[in-house]
Amino acid sequence: VLELRKKKIDIVKIGGSIITDKETYRSLKLESVQKLSEVFSKWNKEFIIVHGAGSYGHVVADKFSIVEGYKEDSQLQGLVQIRTDMLELSTVIVSELVNKGLKALYFQTSALAHLDSNDTEVTLFLNPIKKALELGLTPILSGDVLFKNEDFFTIISGDLLIDLLVKNLDVERVFFLTDVDGLYTEDPNTGESNHLSFVSFDDIDKQHIAELTKEKTIDVTGSMKGKLEVILSIINYVDEVIIVNGNIPNRIRKIIQGKETICTRIEGKKSTQR
Ligand code: IPE
Repeated sequence: VLELRKKKIDIVKIGGSIITDKETYRSLKLESVQKLSEVFSKWNKEFIIVHGAGSYGHVVADKFSIVEGYKEDSQLQGLVQIRTDMLELSTVIVSELVNKGLKALYFQTSALAHLDSNDTEVTLFLNPIKKALELGLTPILSGDVLFKNEDFFTIISGDLLIDLLVKNLDVERVFFLTDVDGLYTEDPNTGESNHLSFVSFDDIDKQHIAELTKEKTIDVTGSMKGKLEVILSIINYVDEVIIVNGNIPNRIRKIIQGKETICTRIEGKKSTQR
């Protein structure tokens, strides 16, 4: 029976701005977490949830220059604080998911990933996650502290973690739950922008995609521009990338029910090969 579960999975990234108030240190949007948990509990296949840090990560990471690596001992207090705060955020998310009936299982990203000797490639210990998926459990990971060979540490964004996951698992769809309705074209001359509901695999790098995010706050891993770079990599490994407004959970519900809604669907390379 379990062999049947060795099939393609989905990955969902919950942007930190959806579940926290990015302006205020450690402020949780509990109602958003609860509404999303309800939607996630109805997901119709195996999936992984990766959540962002929002104000549980970026504020302290910025204050202690964690992305820049080890410079002085005083940074360690910040590193420990981020781990403590992220554990608290993940714990709330996991318990809300479990409350809604999902068999959610927390995996600490910083204990599974390591940046290798040349600081070029992240090694990710995936066996436990693969086994959990085979059992029908839903692994929960997050952007996190990342230990590395040179300079000891940095930060890994949830988006970059997903890039690693899609290269090592059989992934059908990646959902990015953001605070905007999707991607927009931007006319470099007029500044006019139009919502894109579909982008083909061949067109993605030709589009003048607007750098769009409502949040103009501290983001140590780079907001929409960084996200686009990662998406350009991810689409080479999956069937589809979907960007949808995470503040409107009903849209996510519609997508899993196969209904039309406002979002941006980007065709992945795998789907062009069928
Ligand atoms: C950042 O993760 C992780 C830390 C700062 C500890 P993300 O970059 O994925 O978080 P959001 O989605 O931007 O908040």
